[in-house]
Amino acid sequence: MSDIRVKIDEIAMAVPDNVLTNQDLEKIVNTTDEWIRTRTGMVERRKSDDHTAASDIALKACEKLFKRSSLRTRDIDLIIVATVTPDHAFPSTACILQHKLGIPNCPAFDISAGCTGFIYGITIAKQFIENGSATNALVVGVELLTKITNWTDRNTCVLFGDGAGAALVTPAHKGEISEIIDTYISSDGKYGNLLIQQGGGSRNPTSKETVEKNMHTLYMEGNRVFKIAVKSMGEAAVRILERNGFTGDNIDWLIPHQANLRIIDATAKRIHILPQKVIINIEKYGNTSSASIPLAFAEAVEDGRIRRGDLIVLDAFGAGLTWGSVLLRY
Ligand code: UT7
Repeated sequence: MSDIRVKIDEIAMAVPDNVLTNQDLEKIVNTTDEWIRTRTGMVERRKSDDHTAASDIALKACEKLFKRSSLRTRDIDLIIVATVTPDHAFPSTACILQHKLGIPNCPAFDISAGCTGFIYGITIAKQFIENGSATNALVVGVELLTKITNWTDRNTCVLFGDGAGAALVTPAHKGEISEIIDTYISSDGKYGNLLIQQGGGSRNPTSKETVEKNMHTLYMEGNRVFKIAVKSMGEAAVRILERNGFTGDNIDWLIPHQANLRIIDATAKRIHILPQKVIINIEKYGNTSSASIPLAFAEAVEDGRIRRGDLIVLDAFGAGLTWGSVLLRY
């Protein structure tokens, strides 16, 4: 066990300006506002323009972050970007962001853990800091899912949106209440094909055929993913509470991944937490994958709901399939 305790120092978010409503989607595919609201809880989402890439939105979130913190970009010695929609396959979006922010030489890398990416990132940053390999980490969840959306597939095109959330993960000073208490991450690769971008990698290199077959867009077997999501998110939340001696009653806030309001409700019920203690913004942003938790977290800090010292559970599920949770005092 390390003597170094680790906390989330600050958190910030950014989204593109352009809003895509359920009514807009009614004009694109055979869907209705009623179906989308009742089956998902979504009302609108953000869509970036043709010139914007993941690092551009991530940069906006980071600029807000550094305005809030006493830390400067020169203090950062670890950059982790969680994304499945990077600027390029390589170099990493973390390296691109490092350059844009003017952060001096340090480890910078992307991680691919789908919608659980931010939780994976926080877990990795905590361990780098605890073992003395880093002091101040920048952890970003950024996703431009509308760039890999199949706009002819009503099963998926109504679900996803763009955004970024960024957190500074730093040592907690002596006597300070803020702390990342515990993290839990897991995965089961046998379900990988249920949520996948099939084209563009070494399995199906980009070709005329992969483009014509729409293999570069997101494919999801929603119904099967839904069932595993309910089970895994519930399990991840219960596990992190139980092994730290807490129940849902002790928690000030549950911040779940915003994939579907019905999954969020089922997770809240599983840990017996009151609905008013669950942070939900799915109606505004849809599913922003690895950005969804930091987006919801940052928004609730900005509007004053979440305060320093609040006990919080982060809980996510995503492509891989992956899932995980974080217990922290903000
Ligand atoms: O982010 C991490 C991973 N993602 C998730 O966790 C998402 C998990 N999955 C889900 O949230 C839900 O499964 C969906 C929202 C994707 C779908 O909801 P569902 O209740 O599971 O619907 P379904 O896929 O079972 O489809 C029910 C019906 C089908 O029609 P039939 O075959 O019963 O006639 C679909 O064709 O709803 C139809 N449908 C639609 N109808 C209108 C599917 N998409 C739409 C749509 N508008 N956009």
